[in-house]
Amino acid sequence: MSLLYEKLEDYCTLNSSHIPDYLVDLERETHIKTLNPRMLTGPLQGRLLSLISKMIQPTGILEIGTFTGYSCLCLAEGLQKNGILDTIEINEELKPVIYKYVSKSPFSTQITIHFGDAMKILETLSGKYQLVFIDAAKEDYIDYYERIFDQVESGGIILADNVLWSGKVISDPQDETTRCIHKFNRHVLSDKRVENVVLPVRDGLNIIRKK
Ligand SMILES: C[S@@+](CC[C@H](N)C(=O)[O-])C[C@H]1O[C@@H](n2cnc3c(N)ncnc32)[C@H](O)[C@@H]1O
Repeated sequence: MSLLYEKLEDYCTLNSSHIPDYLVDLERETHIKTLNPRMLTGPLQGRLLSLISKMIQPTGILEIGTFTGYSCLCLAEGLQKNGILDTIEINEELKPVIYKYVSKSPFSTQITIHFGDAMKILETLSGKYQLVFIDAAKEDYIDYYERIFDQVESGGIILADNVLWSGKVISDPQDETTRCIHKFNRHVLSDKRVENVVLPVRDGLNIIRKK
């Protein structure tokens, strides 16, 4: 990431709404306790997720790839009072941190954390969702998308993270994971059931609206 881009991201963050204290603490603890803290969404994209969720005011949110729970708690900010959020994570070692911060948030009774492989867990979920955040195994993005598509209501939004893959969609298109990401982006673009926009926010966010 160039110095100018980093400074612009800092500027954008400083001029965006403040984040709740428990998210500041969660970000710090993620840096101390995990090997790859860069996976965490972070303050700027977190505010975007929160704002999108508040615009939709969903009763059902699905997240695939919880990590330490940062994006989950940002998305939950837009839930209606009777709304629920399902989030899926394969790494059980993350349990203590996820539970700690979900409990500190105002949304603990609305969030269910499912531990296991996303494709298997998805078979057990039958709810309807107005907002979905795809952020787990990059190789499986198309499978996640197709698996959940019928459970997304018309007008609902699917967000897919890391769709620029550190710029490798341009700089290293032959890299295996990059090819999967690129294939996913082309899959969405050619899907007549949706309209979408790819934004260069953080590592790239594909915002997809089901018609
Ligand atoms: C990029 S991180 C998610 C970051 C989180 N959404 C956030 O923004 O704070 C991806 C997460 O997906 C999880 N994951 C990877 N493969 C998975 C799978 N097959 N099923 C469920 N979770 C998976 C990883 O363990 C990791 O915690």
